[in-house]
Amino acid sequence: MTNSARIPDRPRFELVSLFAGAGGLDLGLERAGFVASTVTDIEPPACETLRRNKKLAGADTAQLLGLIEEASAQRCFNRLSAEEKDWFFHRLLERPSSAKYLATAKVIEGDIREIPSEELLSSPDANVFAVAGGPPCQPFSKAGKQKALDCTKNGDLFYEFVRVVGDLQPNWFIFENVKGITFTPTDVLYSVCGICCEEELADFKIRQNFAVQSATAPKCGSCGSGDTGWQVRNERGGSLRIIKREFERLGYKCEEKVLNAADFGAPQIRERLFIIGSREHLSFDWPIPTNQRPQSVSKQASLLDSADSDGKPWRTMYDALWAEGHQEYGSIDREKAVLWVKNVVRPHDEPVTWHLDRPSPTIGAHQSAKLALAPIGVPEAQLTRQQWHTRGRRQGDIPPVPVEHCYLSDEELLRLQTFPRWWYLHGTRMQRAFQIGNAVPPVLAEAVGRAVIEAQLAYEQSNEVVAASA
Ligand SMILES: C[S@@+](CC[C@H](N)C(=O)[O-])C[C@H]1O[C@@H](n2cnc3c(N)ncnc32)[C@H](O)[C@@H]1O
Repeated sequence: MTNSARIPDRPRFELVSLFAGAGGLDLGLERAGFVASTVTDIEPPACETLRRNKKLAGADTAQLLGLIEEASAQRCFNRLSAEEKDWFFHRLLERPSSAKYLATAKVIEGDIREIPSEELLSSPDANVFAVAGGPPCQPFSKAGKQKALDCTKNGDLFYEFVRVVGDLQPNWFIFENVKGITFTPTDVLYSVCGICCEEELADFKIRQNFAVQSATAPKCGSCGSGDTGWQVRNERGGSLRIIKREFERLGYKCEEKVLNAADFGAPQIRERLFIIGSREHLSFDWPIPTNQRPQSVSKQASLLDSADSDGKPWRTMYDALWAEGHQEYGSIDREKAVLWVKNVVRPHDEPVTWHLDRPSPTIGAHQSAKLALAPIGVPEAQLTRQQWHTRGRRQGDIPPVPVEHCYLSDEELLRLQTFPRWWYLHGTRMQRAFQIGNAVPPVLAEAVGRAVIEAQLAYEQSNEVVAASA
């Protein structure tokens, strides 16, 4: 399956999206100019989110009303109060009919391991410009058989992404993942030449099934000697090296970078690793940040590096969410009010309350449902109790201190993630929050998508210039 010639009546920048979740990555890429022809996910609620947004694309007010009515009658919305239902209607009705996201996308629900690459094509002769996605990809630390001890069942899902890229041969791929891949210690398997000492990183599949006694190392790619052997080294960032190597084996040139969504206009600190691959080995420039960390935020965000930017300051939670008042509390005192990360084990001793005059912490899939606004703050006694919890100790000895608070609504979570407020989310509250927390903020995806399209167009223009002057 290769795609050297473009077919004229097809979208210029056709996208196949894997692990699509709530569609954050796709929404941003479509804003940048991509057109999703296929989106896939294994989770039924996420697929229903994608299907319904596709249905709502371009709907006029009457159609919108019908579709929202139909959606709100579903079982998962039974528990919404009358007020919440009203709010749900309110925000979805704001969807402009010009919003056509996912309009042409085929939604495939299923385990990617069981979906043949051909099925992902919009037609047998489709010309895929890009494959994009963020597989759940816990860094896989151990090589060989012992992997079962510490590798989750999803440890090799990235390889499905590699498989699809290899089969569809898109011009570009956009691989998104957790920053941890860049630093987690990982066993890396090398075949080492006893003659010229050349080292070659082993195929991922060999590494996964590696058993020192039975495997034979391949001949040296440099001097051709058969005097080679295996070596396993535990290396920081080994997962990233292994993943990149698999794409390079397919002939792609890869660039990787960790980007912070706050640097691109999200009111949220969210660092994500992107690997961009070009089949034609085109040069690629990373998007330039539009926002930067102001001095005042350094107190709680001192662990984080902001990229250089001469732009506007980071957007704050207050400005993005509550500057015009809060649904329940009305105007809130930004000195006292805090975002409270309730009952969640926070990584790296991160605080459990955050001032509103800064971006929110990363909204994790498992945390988003537990984010709350505490309009008059959280008493110290409760914080101490929470801090105990964050260090992994059991709660229970000290009773909780009553704290006035309310959980963030779907709309507030959507806004922190830079989705439009009218994006439809399917499922129970936990399922909806999970989908939002899993998403790539569309503003970040859009910036990356634009950079890819610019790289492609710059290459094509330079080719035209050369052709015209020949
Ligand atoms: C990190 S989320 C992707 C979020 C998405 N990129 C967005 O921006 O909204 C990973 C997704 O992979 C899906 N997934 C997990 N295992 C899968 C599998 N075996 N096949 C297909 N999708 C899978 C999950 O349901 C989840 O929605």
